Amino acid sequence: MTTKTPRIAHLGIAVRDLDAAVAFYRDVLGMPVGTREVVGDQGVEVAFIHAGEPEIELLRPTKADSPVGRFLEKRGEGLHHVCLQVADIRAELRRLEALGVPLVDREPRVGAGGHLVAFLHPKGARGVLIELEEKRSS
Ligand code: CO
Repeated sequence: MTTKTPRIAHLGIAVRDLDAAVAFYRDVLGMPVGTREVVGDQGVEVAFIHAGEPEIELLRPTKADSPVGRFLEKRGEGLHHVCLQVADIRAELRRLEALGVPLVDREPRVGAGGHLVAFLHPKGARGVLIELEEKRSS
């Protein structure tokens, strides 16, 4: 809520083995590991790596038939999405929709950390899946 300019909140990386991925970032790269949680709605278990700003979000599918599960099947491990923090996610979705930007989510839903999130379709964003996030203060 501090700025009107979207800033990168995190980079989401799809992984097959979350324990192994966390161990790599923590033990090999020496980065602190933050919270870990299952986001049932999106069919993923995520772990945040504190990389300063932005953070890194590791995502492991909890079921094959989920967006991240299908991504891994098709593309393998790697960069999955870029998350932009916005001040008012509903206003931003309405603004983008009016511009004709294809949206995956027309309404925000509750994502990791209890924050409101929504995805824009990669076909309208130069091939990159973009997640919008409005932080909810805890
Ligand atoms: Co994310």
